[in-house]
Amino acid sequence: MLKIRVIHGPNLNLLGTREPEVYGAVTLAEIDSRIKAHAEKIGAHVEVSQFNSEGDVVEAIHTARDWADAIVINPGAYTHYSIAVRDAIAAVGIPAVEVHLSNIHAREDFRQKSVIAPVCAGQISGFGAQSYILGLDAARQLAEDRERG
Ligand code: DQA
Repeated sequence: MLKIRVIHGPNLNLLGTREPEVYGAVTLAEIDSRIKAHAEKIGAHVEVSQFNSEGDVVEAIHTARDWADAIVINPGAYTHYSIAVRDAIAAVGIPAVEVHLSNIHAREDFRQKSVIAPVCAGQISGFGAQSYILGLDAARQLAEDRERG
């Protein structure tokens, strides 16, 4: 069975009340239940967590090496400056998909740069909660391609 690790970064626990004009009104609990429902639909096992600390995000990426076929990650603000998160993704060698609720390329200058993107297979940005669903489909595709060699 396909196994996918989904990681939400800092401040995403506040979704629903956090800048709804940017991130929408959907809560993280609702997003997580959509992720789990979609995983079930595509026959994948998924583990989903949210972390506010950079070290916890790094640890979750390390641990994924033991069991996951792919990572779907919204690194939140770490996207823009965390070389530690970038290095962790590069180190574990599991295909990763970077996702964002908002379109980071249409926002402030400092959000338009992702230090994570170069070590990910690709980036999905701007589709709200649906970004995660697209991310799961991309992760499935990547894992299948890798299996086929
Ligand atoms: C975000 C975009 C980041 O710039 C921001 O720091 C977040 C959320 C998004 O999902 O749109 O926390 O990753």
